[in-house]
Amino acid sequence: MSASTDSTTGFGHGKVILLGEHAVVFGQPAVAAGIRAGVRAHVSPGSGALSAPAWGLEAQVGDESLPGQAVRRLLERLNADWSGLDFWLESEVPARAGLGSSAAMAVAIARAVAARTNAGEADVLAAAASAESVFHRTPSGIDAAAASRGRLGKFDKQAGWQDLPLKAPFDLCIGLSGQAHDTGALVAGVADLCAGTPVARRLVDAMGDLARAGMDALAAGDMAALARMFNMAHGLLSGVGVSTPALDELVHIARAAGALGAKLTGAGGGGAVIAIAAEQGDEVLRRWRAKGYYGFTTTIGHD
Ligand code: MEV
Repeated sequence: MSASTDSTTGFGHGKVILLGEHAVVFGQPAVAAGIRAGVRAHVSPGSGALSAPAWGLEAQVGDESLPGQAVRRLLERLNADWSGLDFWLESEVPARAGLGSSAAMAVAIARAVAARTNAGEADVLAAAASAESVFHRTPSGIDAAAASRGRLGKFDKQAGWQDLPLKAPFDLCIGLSGQAHDTGALVAGVADLCAGTPVARRLVDAMGDLARAGMDALAAGDMAALARMFNMAHGLLSGVGVSTPALDELVHIARAAGALGAKLTGAGGGGAVIAIAAEQGDEVLRRWRAKGYYGFTTTIGHD
C-alpha cells in the first residue's frame, strides 16, 4: 500500500551510541544520540500487511518473520487490532547496521498507532521495548529510548534516559561496514565471554568508566578528550570480540585521515563506526569511499 488520506504517521529516530554499548546491558551507563535520519511509519486501514521497500521487507503482521512477530508483539502491547491495518515504512537508516533501525521502526509504528488510539508516549516506549525484545532477546532499552527522544542523552537500565546538556553541536562521521549483524547474538557472546573469563567483565566495566568520562568531556565541550574515549572504547570492544576486520579498517582509515578518534558503534560484528573528525570530516568520507565504504555526516545537538 502507499500512504492514504486515512493514514496516521509516526517517526522514530535512528541512533548512534557514543560510548558504553554492551556495558549498558550489564548496568553501566552509556551515552547515545538519536540522529536526524530515521523511519517514518504510515498506518492505514488494510489487512495486516507490513512493508518497508528500502529494506526489501514484505511481511504480514504475525507471520513467522522476525519483523512480523515483533510488530505483532508491539500491537498487542497497544491493544490494537492489526488485522484491520496496513503498515508501510519509509526508512533513511539501513537495516541491521548498528544505527537502531529496528527501534526506529518500532517507535515509528507505535507512534502512528498511538495517533489512532490516543495512547501516550510511555505506552509507545513500552510497546517499542516489546518489539525490541523479539528482535534482540535481552536489549537494555537504549535503542528504543534514543529512537523516541531523538537527541543526546545518558541511559542506564535503572534510571532510563536522561537528556544531556551539550556545549555546542558537533559533527560525527558515520561509516558503514556493509555487513549486517545480529545484536542478540553479539550480546549473548559478550555475556558468555564474561561468564567463562571473569577478567573480561573488567573490560566491560571499564567501558562504563569511559562513558562517564565521555559525559564529562561533553559537558566541558572537550572534543579531543571525547575522541580519546572513542579510541580506548574501540580497543575494549575489540577485546571482547565484537569488532571485525572491516570495522577495524574503517576506524584506522578515519584516524589516518586526521580524525581525532573513532570507534565501532552499537553491537559491532558488522554495522557501523563513528569518528570525530572536526575539519577532516570530508577527507574521512572521501577515504572511506575510496575503499568502498559508504559514509555520511550527522550533527549531534541539531535541535
Ligand atoms: C545495541 O545498539 C546496543 C547494545 O548495547 C545492546 C543493548 O544495549 O540492547 C549492544
